[in-house]
Amino acid sequence: MFNNVEDCLTVELSIVHNKSGKITVLENNNGIPFDIKRIYYLYDVPMDVSRGGHAHYELQQYVVAASGSFTFILDDGKNRSEVFLNHPNKALHIKPGIWREMKGFSSGSICLVLASMKYTEADYIRDYNDFLKYRRNV
Ligand code: TYD
Repeated sequence: MFNNVEDCLTVELSIVHNKSGKITVLENNNGIPFDIKRIYYLYDVPMDVSRGGHAHYELQQYVVAASGSFTFILDDGKNRSEVFLNHPNKALHIKPGIWREMKGFSSGSICLVLASMKYTEADYIRDYNDFLKYRRNV
């Protein structure tokens, strides 16, 4: 059964808040629906650049605007949605089988990604027509 764009929810993360600032914690077995196997972050992305343009067979991700803002475009082969991330206490849960693109990175933004698998090129679908075939055949 495939995931659709509306299955990719934006989750509010808790904040430990005091007069010295704020902390948001993400840890395994505590609200995250997968085991974290990898963390990476995108930064120094030029404002006019689009990234992404791929889907994954199995990978799940939590995406957080650790700083600044950017937009994720999600596509399930039938419907598209845009998710604007602009706060470190919001995480977008991208489920398997969803095509994504990213755009509109603000200056200095940091896109933090928690991933359910180590980097595996074989898990990528990088061609949009292959993605549509995959969505229609399975
Ligand atoms: P890619 O996932 O295509 O980037 P984006 O979706 O942000 O546009 O990865 C870009 C390059 O970085 C690609 O050559 C693979 C490499 N890469 C790794 O080596 N390890 C990783 O964990 C990631 C996410 C990418």
